[in-house]
Amino acid sequence: MLPGTHMNISRRSFLDRTALSLLAGATLPQLHAADQVRTEPSEAGEKPLVVSTWPFGKASNEAALKILVGGGAILDAVEQGIWVTESDINNHSVGLSGTPNAAGVVQLDACIMYGPGHQAGSVAGLEGIRHPISAARRVMEKTKHVMLVGEGARMFALEQGLESIEVDSRNRYLEWQKRREKERAQSAGKTDTHDTIALLVLGTDGTIAGGCSTSGLGGKLPGRVGDSPIIGSGLYVDNEVGAAGATGIGENVMRYCGSFLIVEYMRQGLHPQKACQEAIRRIARQDPKGFELSVNFVALDKQGRFGAAGTDQGFAYSVTSPKASRVLPNPGVDRSK
Ligand code: GLY
Repeated sequence: MLPGTHMNISRRSFLDRTALSLLAGATLPQLHAADQVRTEPSEAGEKPLVVSTWPFGKASNEAALKILVGGGAILDAVEQGIWVTESDINNHSVGLSGTPNAAGVVQLDACIMYGPGHQAGSVAGLEGIRHPISAARRVMEKTKHVMLVGEGARMFALEQGLESIEVDSRNRYLEWQKRREKERAQSAGKTDTHDTIALLVLGTDGTIAGGCSTSGLGGKLPGRVGDSPIIGSGLYVDNEVGAAGATGIGENVMRYCGSFLIVEYMRQGLHPQKACQEAIRRIARQDPKGFELSVNFVALDKQGRFGAAGTDQGFAYSVTSPKASRVLPNPGVDRSK
């Protein structure tokens, strides 16, 4: 039996622990003010450029930029940039320090895309592998497939020589439960947070690549896959146009192919930030939960322009180029448009 499916808990307690109950109890983020392109995301553009989700992405960006300015390959920049976040033991939403599922098992999702040749690789429900982004890259480069899941993905990663780590997930799960109870008490029922790193890279020569990695929603059903490893949802790269990546509640991104949508808006001429905002407006118009979906995006285009937008008030993103490395706030979305 696969480790992630081996449960000795009743159906009732099982469901009590699921992400579904978390989703049902989630409170709603407030949106921000006006929908303008901030002065920071310049029209002029910057190259090479690395853009990622959340403030923790900044360290990943800087590792990626170092590889680029040292003449390294853009895929190495994506992979090794994401390694930084996957290795961070204080990060409980990416990598093996991430939050376990309802069975107390950390199941990781990741994907990678390389603009030239429109190449993609992805893994989902991966257990015990230190760097899921590397497994995704190997799927892309060493197989004729795009996506491997579960035990098959793990066997492949091991066969490729990727580092595996035995994780004491049961203890971590109990710790997470305690932490969640405390956070819920402190925040009077506000949303359980979980984050994903989506990291986008534009090379000096205009080549575009990106990657995405997460442990997904805490307490998810074993086998649940979110948006992050789904090409077009958690990440999308089009070498003629740009790239986009997502963080938030995967169910709300993957039902709309959120990252694909943003790249298509950029193809129509929208600035990356406007494209992120327009995608959120479109999703919100169509979805019963409207602006309360917890969907957040980052994007960059071929010209080196970048932007972001999200429905989570606390969302922020990281932007790094030889000019500067900075964390920028969520510009929000004007919902009246
Ligand atoms: N966005 C990550 C997830 O929902 O799994």
